[in-house]
Amino acid sequence: MSRTWAFFNALLFLGILHNVCVQGLGVNWGTVSSHKLPPKTVIQLLKDNGIQKVKLFDADPTILTALAGSGLEVMVATTNLELAGLGDYSKAKEWVQKNVIQYNITSKDGVNITYVAVGNEPFLKDYKDKFTNVTAPALKNIQDALIEAGVGNTTKATIPFNGDVYYSPSWNPVPSAGRFRPDIADNMRDILTILNKNNAPFIVNIYPFLSLFFGKNFPLEYAFFDGATPLTDGNIQYTNVLDANLDTLVSALKAEGYPNMTVIVGEIGWPTDGDVNANVTLANRFYQGLIKHLASNKGSPLHPGYLEVYLFGLFDEDAKSILPGNFERSWGIFRYDGQPKFPLDLSGNSGNKTLVAAKNVRYLPNRWCVLKTDPINVTNIGDNVNYACNNGGDCTSLQDGSSCNFLDDKQKASYAFNSYFQVQDQSNSSCDFEGLATVTLKDSSLPNCNFTIQIAPPPKPISPAPAPVNTLPPSDNEPSLADSKPSSHKKSAASVSLPGTLIKIIAFVTVLAQLGF
Ligand SMILES: *[C@@H]1O[C@H](CO)[C@@H](O)[C@H](O)[C@H]1NC(C)=O
Ligand SMILES: *[C@@H]1O[C@H](CO)[C@@H](O)[C@H](O)[C@H]1NC(C)=O
Ligand SMILES: *[C@@H]1O[C@H](CO)[C@@H](O)[C@H](O)[C@H]1NC(C)=O
Ligand SMILES: *[C@@H]1O[C@H](CO)[C@@H](O)[C@H](O)[C@H]1NC(C)=O
Ligand SMILES: *[C@@H]1O[C@H](CO)[C@@H](O)[C@H](O)[C@H]1NC(C)=O
Ligand SMILES: *[C@@H]1O[C@H](CO)[C@@H](O)[C@H](O)[C@H]1NC(C)=O
Ligand SMILES: *[C@@H]1O[C@H](CO)[C@@H](O)[C@H](O)[C@H]1NC(C)=O
Ligand SMILES: *[C@@H]1O[C@H](CO)[C@@H](O)[C@H](O)[C@H]1NC(C)=O
Ligand SMILES: *[C@@H]1O[C@H](CO)[C@@H](O)[C@H](O)[C@H]1NC(C)=O
Ligand SMILES: *[C@@H]1O[C@H](CO)[C@@H](O)[C@H](O)[C@H]1NC(C)=O
Repeated sequence: MSRTWAFFNALLFLGILHNVCVQGLGVNWGTVSSHKLPPKTVIQLLKDNGIQKVKLFDADPTILTALAGSGLEVMVATTNLELAGLGDYSKAKEWVQKNVIQYNITSKDGVNITYVAVGNEPFLKDYKDKFTNVTAPALKNIQDALIEAGVGNTTKATIPFNGDVYYSPSWNPVPSAGRFRPDIADNMRDILTILNKNNAPFIVNIYPFLSLFFGKNFPLEYAFFDGATPLTDGNIQYTNVLDANLDTLVSALKAEGYPNMTVIVGEIGWPTDGDVNANVTLANRFYQGLIKHLASNKGSPLHPGYLEVYLFGLFDEDAKSILPGNFERSWGIFRYDGQPKFPLDLSGNSGNKTLVAAKNVRYLPNRWCVLKTDPINVTNIGDNVNYACNNGGDCTSLQDGSSCNFLDDKQKASYAFNSYFQVQDQSNSSCDFEGLATVTLKDSSLPNCNFTIQIAPPPKPISPAPAPVNTLPPSDNEPSLADSKPSSHKKSAASVSLPGTLIKIIAFVTVLAQLGF
């Protein structure tokens, strides 16, 4: 087969109507952010945009309580770390009571929980079999507990999988040759038996952006939906990687005896910063094409008809780990504060609707933290920038290929100081940086590079002020502005909430390396 097919095949390892919106469109609501919009604000935003389904990464009671009576369909989740415990049926019953039944799911005033995601991408190779044997029992127990509680027909247990659970062989790298990975095939058989028995769907996460990010030779136009040269598999023609990827899965399901199993795309999206191909223009092109593709209700050649899809994601999340790449915090169709990034028409037909912004967002005051115009001693600027970027400030926009990379070093220092200052809720002590920084009331944003003002924290009982920043962490390398690589090791929540996204990319890199890319 052609080299392009070979390439596509490698990429399969990835996994990594009012204000009318395309039928049944869903979004992933991730919450790995330093400052979160109040759940009620988010729910209003979803409704204003006609979004009907929302996928969560856990079962956060503040979010679920806020969703009561909203009419939105909700997917709650167990984390991977809960899987082993859920092998005990009494634990699964408890979980279902606490995180599903309690929310009066069949009442209009309750939370319409239609799916329980049991784990997230548990069969990633990088988990080294940690979850392979505990996933099917947890799925069975959660589903059985749902049935015992009398909601087995309304709420289905399922598992979002990474695309690296299936592949097609290198000697025949076409969708029709798709099979499940041999090392997890037995576990997958158990899971498919459970899903099929309960009429539950198979969920898979598909990322055309990552195909492009990791594949230097990946033909860019196949990531989109606007007419690439067709690739042929038998008498079927493919013009985008989503259809090709989806059909490889359908072929794998067919080979196991489930040609009609419903497939849901649990995550799909395009980031807007942190990489040369992560910008608003390409994201808009991707989403507009995707929405049109979904609105046509054509599905893919082997999975025709309606396709249920959850966009990834709703907001930018500034506290996510950037181990996968600098784009990792910029996956939102909305900015961190619920402002739309581009004029996306979710209805998929008229082309003249646009996203509705979050309402009544409360911001911190208009105060920015910047490098003094006349710093007394510039020697320590680099250390202080690194400190800001490594301790909660988000400097991903400053990196190579990012939107604010054009700033000069002094402007970059200001950007980093301001980001840290905002994350610290503008506490005066967080704008010191050894005397290099000062608070200003003048908007320091530059054209095409915003210096953000963070969302005001929710009113709550007085909490202790953040620690002053007058000491620098010990550092034995020579820090400079140029290598002010942010990291988020401090934010352990990031890798707990979204382990899949992080790990799958590493898995994919490994696979590409094996294939000689
Ligand atoms: C569920 O219904 C009960 C009884 O009507 C009510 O007390 C409770 O607040 C409801 N829970 C939720 C989450 O709506
Ligand atoms: C929950 O959503 C499903 C799917 O749209 C719908 O059929 C059902 O009526 C909803 N349940 C409630 C209580 O609104
Ligand atoms: C999973 O179960 C299989 C079959 O019982 C066993 O061979 C394998 O060692 C187990 N793997 C792990 C990681 O426990
Ligand atoms: C679930 O659906 C099946 C098949 O339609 C039906 O026989 C069963 O009574 C339903 N169970 C409940 C609890 O509604
Ligand atoms: C799949 O659906 C087709 C068309 O409805 C039907 O003919 C076939 O028997 C189904 N196959 C299985 C295994 O359910
Ligand atoms: C977006 O990225 C593409 C591909 O790298 C590039 O050609 C285009 O100029 C970029 N657009 C903007 C507005 O940066
Ligand atoms: C654009 O929106 C207006 C007002 O909502 C509507 O009347 C018009 O039909 C729309 N145009 C198209 C092409 O759908
Ligand atoms: C500037 O700061 C560095 C590091 O603290 C110090 O070694 C140097 O002497 C200072 N220079 C001046 C002119 O104060
Ligand atoms: C922070 O500094 C500003 C300006 O000097 C001052 O008005 C404000 O009271 C200070 N806030 C705190 C908490 O010290
Ligand atoms: C920059 O800020 C302005 C004003 O808040 C806003 O309109 C614009 O969309 C922002 N740009 C980006 C890239 O966030």
